[in-house]
Amino acid sequence: MRKKLVISTGAGMSAESGISTFRDAGGLWENYPVMDVASADGFERNPELVHRFYNERRKQLIHANPNAGHRALVELEKWFDTFIITQNVDDLHERAGSHYVLHLHGELMKVRSMTREDRVYTLDPDNLETTTETRDKFGDPVRPHIVFFQEAVPNIEPAIELTRQADIFVVIGTSLVVYPAASLLHYVRRGVPVYYIDPVPAVVPPGVTVLKMTATEGVGKLIELLKPLAEQDGNG
Ligand code: APR
Repeated sequence: MRKKLVISTGAGMSAESGISTFRDAGGLWENYPVMDVASADGFERNPELVHRFYNERRKQLIHANPNAGHRALVELEKWFDTFIITQNVDDLHERAGSHYVLHLHGELMKVRSMTREDRVYTLDPDNLETTTETRDKFGDPVRPHIVFFQEAVPNIEPAIELTRQADIFVVIGTSLVVYPAASLLHYVRRGVPVYYIDPVPAVVPPGVTVLKMTATEGVGKLIELLKPLAEQDGNG
């Protein structure tokens, strides 16, 4: 049986692709107060600003590329059934080639109907801008497909389930301060090896192997550490 490898990634995963992290920016996200552009209240107060903000983020994202860390995680699929749970709204794991990516906080390249939230649309790369006037094909207004602060995190349940099933659990580039994503670590079964890659790691429970490195360096090291675990199963 191939082992199930579950990897939880945060903003630090994409830092080396030129996408700035949140905490490192001192509470600002690309010069905007986070609660103005990423909260339900902020969207209600000034939807024009929020639309403009995500238009800018999309423009930035199409010019960014997956880094060596994203690409190396794809390599792990050779040896493990690999599942990524990401707090990132970028699509860099998908563009690197990862086959299973669960987004906890939404997806920048998608919008959804404000009337029927199950109507989710991937934006056309040639038309990435939305405004308060944008309508879907049913005539309904759309909003960024982003989980704002103050909103529920619909994908947390499948994320918890995956975490419970993990034979190996890895955390990369997150300050572990935003809940419920930060709580995933509590659902890892006893005895399962846990690795945490971050150049400025948060405090984690004893027993977690901390690799105090950037994502690109750390994933290289991780592969060295994990390959023998797959080989024990005859999957090497
Ligand atoms: N490689 C790996 N980790 C890095 C790198 C790097 N090159 N550079 C910075 N980091 C680490 C930082 O040390 C920090 O621990 O990435 C982490 C980034 O933390 P946050 O900015 O808090 O990002 P994250 O934990 O993903 O934030 C969670 O906050 O604003 C919300 O919804 C947003 O998903 C986001 C959530």
